[in-house]
Amino acid sequence: MDLFEYQARDLFAKHGVPVLDAKVADTPEEAEAAAAELGGKVVVKAQVKTGGRGKAGGVKVADGPADAKAEAEQILGLDIKGHVVRRVMLAQTASIESEYYVSFLLDRSNRTFLAMASVEGGMEIEEIAVTKPEALAKVPVDATVGVTPAKAAEIVAAANFPAEVAEQVADTLVKLWDVFVKEDALLVEVNPLVKTTDGAIVALDGKVTLDGNAEFRQPEHAALEDKAAADPLEAKAKEKHLNYVKLEGEVGIIGNGAGLVMSTLDVVAYAGEAHGSVKPANFLDIGGGASAEVMANGLEIILGDADVKSVFVNVFGGITACDAVANGIVQAFALLQGRGEAVTKPLVVRLDGNNAELGRKILTEAALSGLEQVDTMDGAAARAAELAAK
Ligand SMILES: Nc1ncnc2c1ncn2[C@@H]1O[C@H](COP(=O)(O)OP(=O)(O)O)[C@@H](O)[C@H]1O
Ligand SMILES: [Mg+2]
Repeated sequence: MDLFEYQARDLFAKHGVPVLDAKVADTPEEAEAAAAELGGKVVVKAQVKTGGRGKAGGVKVADGPADAKAEAEQILGLDIKGHVVRRVMLAQTASIESEYYVSFLLDRSNRTFLAMASVEGGMEIEEIAVTKPEALAKVPVDATVGVTPAKAAEIVAAANFPAEVAEQVADTLVKLWDVFVKEDALLVEVNPLVKTTDGAIVALDGKVTLDGNAEFRQPEHAALEDKAAADPLEAKAKEKHLNYVKLEGEVGIIGNGAGLVMSTLDVVAYAGEAHGSVKPANFLDIGGGASAEVMANGLEIILGDADVKSVFVNVFGGITACDAVANGIVQAFALLQGRGEAVTKPLVVRLDGNNAELGRKILTEAALSGLEQVDTMDGAAARAAELAAK
């Protein structure tokens, strides 16, 4: 989960990373009041989950409350790379002498953590990384050791930070590593980390990506979720602990196992080409133990999607055998009927693997209305696409 800048700032503050005072506002009036509380000059900053806000007109300095209100009026509603600004952060201004860049991230390809740092931070860092890679120091961080003061000093030296800020930057790196580890982040980035004209080091902009796999031990992170932006079906699926991603197409997909579901998406998209570009409407992996309830919940989510014209249930029986899945489907139909959400869209089921014969027999005997069985994955995908196109 990517965080907004103001949320990243809060986490930085929690772990002692130096930040400026700030407040958020959802209306120009709130911005005016926030600026008055902060006092003096403030920056008004668009809160959107994308970079390059400064260049897009989403970061403006205001002289006082009235000016902050006017700037907030301009920024709220602005579209920055497809992200509409619904909230601004107002922060104290820093008198900037130099802009640096620092980050920690999970370096998957090298199976380690990586620290990156540059004394040429600011809005052009992406360009610098490409045109002047030597200006961006990359230092691997051993997960079992972490960023000790010695490691921080190594990063500072590798990036050639000036001597007068070396100690402060190193200290900030140790605290940022705390954010990275204690908050279970995949990315912690500060750009710019600035040296002010008074010689202080301050994090002016922060980007944090939290690791969703660590949700179970980070109960406080649930509050950071941007519920307004979440797709309502995805939010509902999440409540039911389903692995669901909404897509743009018309064929609802249910499968067991992420790999099978992904290849099902490919096969449906391919088959759909013959029917005026019909596409999969979602990813839904019901996992190994496809109980009737999980199947019913999955069907309920997918049938609740107005874009869905047909559903393809693609199951390869393993530990959970096909007869159990077939019984799950039969019970799911009854469960949905009971909930007043009877299945009305056509359903194509392909059962293969462990106990496939028995599973097919159960479905045949149940004679559920709108349900067809096709033995092969390609055949079932073609039929589901055809039904969706009708
Ligand atoms: N609190 C602040 N005080 C003074 N200047 C700021 C402040 N926050 C940001 N800036 C300036 O605006 C630039 C862009 O802001 P930043 O928060 O980094 O947004 P983005 O990276 O999305 O463009 C920064 O590089 C910095 O020069
Ligand atoms: Mg920035």
